[in-house]
Amino acid sequence: MREITIALAKGRLANKAMDLFDKIGISCEEMKDKNSRKLIFENPDLGMRFFLAKANDVPTYVEYGAADIGIVGKDTILEEGRKLYEVLDLRMGKCRMCVCGPEAARERLKHHELIRVATKYPHIAKDYFYNKKYQTVEIIKLNGSIELAPIVGLADVIVDIVETGSTLRENGLVVLEEVCDLSARMVVNQVSMKRENEKITQIIKGLQEILREEQA
Ligand code: PRP
Repeated sequence: MREITIALAKGRLANKAMDLFDKIGISCEEMKDKNSRKLIFENPDLGMRFFLAKANDVPTYVEYGAADIGIVGKDTILEEGRKLYEVLDLRMGKCRMCVCGPEAARERLKHHELIRVATKYPHIAKDYFYNKKYQTVEIIKLNGSIELAPIVGLADVIVDIVETGSTLRENGLVVLEEVCDLSARMVVNQVSMKRENEKITQIIKGLQEILREEQA
């Protein structure tokens, strides 16, 4: 029997996703040991394996079939633009992708001035400004603490994730425009979806049921 492999984006998302899988009887005791440095965890009885990867790499593992299923944020899915099926919104890790900056930048944005945009998500930012707003901007890729960029004068605005809004507030920045809503999604390799259709459909249906119950 071929094992089903699930790639999880490391961190909070992975823990929450494992709680969900637990509820449909897919558990992995090995993974609960927080001190373990193991990268791959197996449940041979269920014919399943799990591994933790950097969020940005999860769509890559899934596209190439090294994982049949991936659990990853919509931000990463959009940014990576990999060939895969997005099959389920897990409705956790909800947040928004926004254009943020000092209030003073609002007018400059409106008047389609050539502004500098700092972001960890250059593809999402490009798609938003070029294809949706038809606005030419200069995009500067950063790797973290994006809110610093407008404060120190590297960029006029940022495109970044806003969850509670406290990072913005504490740094004197505001949401200027909303790009899209985000949450964790389940993605599936396109070949696996056909070859392992029965097993994967069963997992999707199980999770859908749990999500419905949790919402009710
Ligand atoms: C994310 C994001 C914002 C912050 C938003 O950063 O890039 O900086 O969280 O959350 P809030 O609205 O609840 O304040 P993360 O902590 O992932 O680190 P990073 O700066 O390294 O990207």
